[in-house]
Amino acid sequence: MPAFAKRLDKVTGSAIRALFSLLGDPKIISFGGGNPAKESFPVDLVQKYTDELYKQDGAAILQYGATEGYKPYIKACLDALLKNKGLSGTSANLLALTGSMQGIDLICRTFLDPGDTILVEAPTFLGALQTFNLYQTNIIPVAMDNDGLIMSELEEAIIKHRPKLLYCIPTFQNPTGRTLTLERRKTVAELAAKYDVVVIEDDPYCELRYSGTPLPTIKSFDTTGNVVLLNSFSKTLSPGMRVGYAFGREDIIRKMTICKQSADTHTSNITQAIAAEFLTNNALAPHLESVIPMYSKKLNAMLNAMDKYFPTECTYTKPEGGLFVWGELPYGIRTLDLFKTAVEEYKVAFIPGEHFYPSPELGYNTFRLNFSSESIERIENGIMLLGELFKEAINKKTIDNK
Ligand SMILES: Cc1ncc(COP(=O)(O)O)c(C=O)c1O
Repeated sequence: MPAFAKRLDKVTGSAIRALFSLLGDPKIISFGGGNPAKESFPVDLVQKYTDELYKQDGAAILQYGATEGYKPYIKACLDALLKNKGLSGTSANLLALTGSMQGIDLICRTFLDPGDTILVEAPTFLGALQTFNLYQTNIIPVAMDNDGLIMSELEEAIIKHRPKLLYCIPTFQNPTGRTLTLERRKTVAELAAKYDVVVIEDDPYCELRYSGTPLPTIKSFDTTGNVVLLNSFSKTLSPGMRVGYAFGREDIIRKMTICKQSADTHTSNITQAIAAEFLTNNALAPHLESVIPMYSKKLNAMLNAMDKYFPTECTYTKPEGGLFVWGELPYGIRTLDLFKTAVEEYKVAFIPGEHFYPSPELGYNTFRLNFSSESIERIENGIMLLGELFKEAINKKTIDNK
């Protein structure tokens, strides 16, 4: 057999999926996944719209569609979603995507040659890291604090590494739950213009806000067209539908469209049409209003339990939305080493944070918790158990150090 492509050399498959092959026991309380809650899916409305769409326009929906997207979908995204974000454009600025994950891939295809540099938040979304590795890029992590990317670090990294791209998840970031402040959003757009860097603004969690005030996108401060906004219906309607969109400068969108032709020809017509129905019938906002209290209660249950049961040496984020809480244990404790004990003895799972960094040693003492898939009771119980495990690890470390 011939050798596998060199581009796969640094791609190992999802480390998280490998960890989760250890699971499968329903007794295990899992904070490890990242899926939206299954009770959040609007099954009845999707079924209603599907029936209506096939009745009205069945043959067109079953035919090949345009790579750019299904026209009513493009119009609905521009009129109902982007206008609300203060963004205006034409169909030439928008490309329908098979999930925002595809947008990350298409921007890479559009801009990156092997050896090019991309800056990422440290830590960042594992799926994006996998994609960047496939393009044989130099991935440079940029430090964050509780307000997101640190601007002085970002500018320094841009000057030093001359990247083509910056990948940023500004709202309720995966994995940390952190949100980039308003001032920093402006600064990111300014730095992108000043140093001619393209920003991938990946914002799939922005509608899952449980408290605080919504913030404008980085894209809304973009005066040069250097920012491409990616969004998705995965967290608001359904990830299985695989629908999202990219919004950006015409020439970038055009190149991404050409790249998409060879990726999947076009995004499924029916799922674009269903998403368009949610928008044109004003059904998305009420749907979100119905699921947000459920997520909000689960997040609060998790944070309250962490306040109560976690050792004081453990620090963690307090997000206002999204699906994740991020924590840090004292130096010297590697969370990957605790994972097996957590699952096998304590029957509770989390994700060791090192998987979210381009170099694992950067986050060996961190962890990500997801609260969407468990009941309130199991969240409280699971956090209590994790608290015991973490206290035990800290005590052991203290004894070892003596
Ligand atoms: C930051 C981020 N971007 C993109 C995605 C993928 O979204 P989609 O289902 O739209 O491809 C995820 C999913 O977890 C994510 O966390």
